[in-house]
Amino acid sequence: MIEKQEGDIVILAIESSCDETAAAVVKNGRDVLSNVISSQIELHKLYGGVVPEIASRKHIEKINQVIEEALKEADVTLDDLDAIAVTYGPGLVGALLVGVAEAKAISYAKKLPLVGVHHIEGHISANYIEHVDLEPPFLCLIVSGGHTHLVIVKDYGEFEILGRTRDDAAGEAFDKVARAIGLGYPGGPKIDKLSQEGDENAIVFPKAKVADGPYDFSFSGVKSAVLNYLNKCKMQKETIVQADVAASFQKAVVDVLVENTLRAAKEMNMDKIALAGGVASNQALRRGMKEACEKAGIAFYYPSPILCTDNAAMIGAAAYYEYKKGTRHGWNLNAVPNLKLGEH
Ligand code: KG4
Ligand code: ZN
Repeated sequence: MIEKQEGDIVILAIESSCDETAAAVVKNGRDVLSNVISSQIELHKLYGGVVPEIASRKHIEKINQVIEEALKEADVTLDDLDAIAVTYGPGLVGALLVGVAEAKAISYAKKLPLVGVHHIEGHISANYIEHVDLEPPFLCLIVSGGHTHLVIVKDYGEFEILGRTRDDAAGEAFDKVARAIGLGYPGGPKIDKLSQEGDENAIVFPKAKVADGPYDFSFSGVKSAVLNYLNKCKMQKETIVQADVAASFQKAVVDVLVENTLRAAKEMNMDKIALAGGVASNQALRRGMKEACEKAGIAFYYPSPILCTDNAAMIGAAAYYEYKKGTRHGWNLNAVPNLKLGEH
């Protein structure tokens, strides 16, 4: 049994928007009592990417088990909870629906408040868990497999989107380039690792600037440049040094992410920058951002890798602040695959 003080809010959070079935118990937004993740990566590897239908079926199979484990690890029962939180968008509709239906069932059966959470708000909130001093306002760069957003977090749950990708998400570009150089899925961590043995200045790939969106990103150009480079090498029978291609591609992506973010911080007078999303684990990105922030006198925050990729602890953190603001959803809550940040 956990010790609950007067005013403590204990939330069971569920995340199933893509290929991780996850549940967590979080106290007062920043105290993670359990964080259970069942990853489907091995299953989707066979197909070189996430297969939505398989993801939904696997979520159904795993979700009860994952929730039971999260409750057990946190040493709580459903009776100790103050609310149920769930990611309801954006994401794969069939995958989201599994978590949403589960959360609604528990909320209905136990008469507990239901708080629907935006997946990106969750990624951003992962930063609150390990940085107890971090409070809005701050600038956040969210880089994941499905999203690339540069956002001012004005207050808890209040966002101003400065920029976003016009085409591929950063993680998507990592995954596609990894596939092209034969590294397999998911490519981000593999490119990260291989880059350490490569020369990042070996090949100059273009760094896309978006003319009419100073903080927007575009990664399809650099991805195509890598594909063209690989084709050219094959046609001219030149040896392809995988590690050099990986490191040079990574540099092109990281440089743009760091440049845009630092420019936004200066122009918007932000003295704190946070990273979020799966690509926030990237070592070159962390290093590049850290150096640039140190130079500019800006405080820099990033979550541990386990809190960067999809997990439910981040959903519990976001849900706490939404709960405190009075956000409640009814049992008619539905999955919203293209949910906009800041919408409820
Ligand atoms: O946040 P996430 O788990 O799922 C989405 O919400 O999309 O992000 C997954 C993405 C994948 O594209 C994966 O390749 C990328 O994050 N990723 C990385 C690294 N670790 C994961 N990309 C670059 N470097 C990494 N170390
Ligand atoms: Zn995510």
